[in-house]
Amino acid sequence: MTAQKALSLSDLTQDTAVRVEIDGVPMAVVLDSNGEVHAIGDTCTHGDISLSDGFVEGETLECWAHGSAFSLRTGRPLNLPAYEPVPVYAVTIDGNDVLIDPAVLKDVN
Ligand code: FES
Repeated sequence: MTAQKALSLSDLTQDTAVRVEIDGVPMAVVLDSNGEVHAIGDTCTHGDISLSDGFVEGETLECWAHGSAFSLRTGRPLNLPAYEPVPVYAVTIDGNDVLIDPAVLKDVN
């Protein structure tokens, strides 16, 4: 599998998550306040909730249902009730294109 265009940079609004699906893999894509683009798994590990419906706060995306905030860098929840991380995908910016390969996870260590 290769990186595919997930969306355009111009589709992103700072500090707002956008849900995309590539090859059936749901992701939440976020342009943070530093201008960096992140892509994490869109399904909260506590329940079947779309994280992209939640709130961006700094470098976290908070699930609206019960408040677990997931790091956009590591995918780890920073507070309960969620305790399992979501995957973090490698993002490549090519001009105005945001490219993501759902088979390539970002090294978060
Ligand atoms: S469903 Fe996300 S914190 Fe409960």
